[in-house]
Amino acid sequence: MSENRYVRTRIDDAIATVVIDRQSKLNALNRQVVAEIDGAFAALRDEGSVRAVILTGAGDKAFVAGADIGVLAGMDPLSGVGVSREGQDILRRIELFPKPVIAAVGGYALGGGCELALACHLRVASDRARFGLPEVSLGIIPGYGGTVRLTRVVGLGRAVEMILSGDMVGAERAAEIGLANMVVPHEELLERTRTFAGRMTRNAPVALEMALKSIYQAVESPMDQAQATEATMFGLLASTDDMKEGMAAFLEKRKARFSGR
Ligand code: COA
Repeated sequence: MSENRYVRTRIDDAIATVVIDRQSKLNALNRQVVAEIDGAFAALRDEGSVRAVILTGAGDKAFVAGADIGVLAGMDPLSGVGVSREGQDILRRIELFPKPVIAAVGGYALGGGCELALACHLRVASDRARFGLPEVSLGIIPGYGGTVRLTRVVGLGRAVEMILSGDMVGAERAAEIGLANMVVPHEELLERTRTFAGRMTRNAPVALEMALKSIYQAVESPMDQAQATEATMFGLLASTDDMKEGMAAFLEKRKARFSGR
């Protein structure tokens, strides 16, 4: 699909898989890797045939072992803010992606890698996954939204523990605290993630987009505003062919065929 050095995309049956492949550095994120991830998502955004995206790391050891420490070591205060803002912006675009994005984590998801997984809507962990935010061991803090999103996903006490200790958590513990949606055998990671994605892609695409918008806006707004957003999205969906099709299919006792309009 593209001529990237570190990131490749393939599309099968409405599901795109974006693979980060910089295995010699455990898929660590340098500027080019994050730019290529951003480009891959931008290309998939308007690709009508794609209804969900799986993001994963190449090789058996890592999803992504963090931002590239070799690059971070050379930063000064000004470039540090820049690095953080650039990463935050790219991860925010993933979080706001209008189709479900699932991280398939088959190894280390550390630092920026854990933050990248947190920016995805869902996380499937293989039994070899290890999540952690070890930045304080390097004298920094998570800078790609990790202090914000980890707290939202696992709660304040657990986020403070993970961020201040820098300790890794394994797949089972990640699932226990809600960091992973499920744990699957390592060899089955991609296949099981595809099946998981299929539970979403069978549903009406515009409804999925509105559900994501409503959920994520709710996290950031007061109750009355969040409910107003929900009501607007709910009402908007009445204008879609997919609502008509979904309800007609139910009443006619058949499977719905959604067009995404
Ligand atoms: N940035 C840059 N390079 C990284 C990296 C990172 N975040 N994580 C791993 N690498 C590199 C290593 O330097 C090594 O490169 P080399 O072969 O040229 O020396 C290569 O990837 C393999 O890593 P290695 O440390 O030899 O593997 P390991 O199995 O012994 O340990 C980890 C794996 C993940 C525990 C270890 O690499 C690690 O702690 N990485 C840093 C994690 C981190 O702090 N991330 C947050 C950054 S903000």
